[in-house]
Amino acid sequence: MPRVSISDTNQTLEVTSGETVYQSLLECCVELPHGCLSGSCGACRIEILAGKENLIEAGLIEKNTIQSLKEEFQTKRGEDFTGREIRLACRAKLTGDLLIKIIK
Ligand code: FES
Repeated sequence: MPRVSISDTNQTLEVTSGETVYQSLLECCVELPHGCLSGSCGACRIEILAGKENLIEAGLIEKNTIQSLKEEFQTKRGEDFTGREIRLACRAKLTGDLLIKIIK
């Protein structure tokens, strides 16, 4: 079984392959921040610190939301996500181990 480690909490959980990061962690009783659960609001944003190759490629909805988030963070927070792997936990399906960070 794949393992997801959460850098913020130092938790490592064994999860089910093929599910979204959000759903797989919820099954382990870890609920990530969320809103729409459909890829539109960006509330479930996470940074992939390791294992990005173990995620199925983002679809158009996820890509568009991430692009908007990056622009918003740059404008409002002065935070630059260039070169960093940002994904939406409610959309990103995993196939192997991950190390993630919750973006607040
Ligand atoms: S919960 Fe809204 S984009 Fe994931």
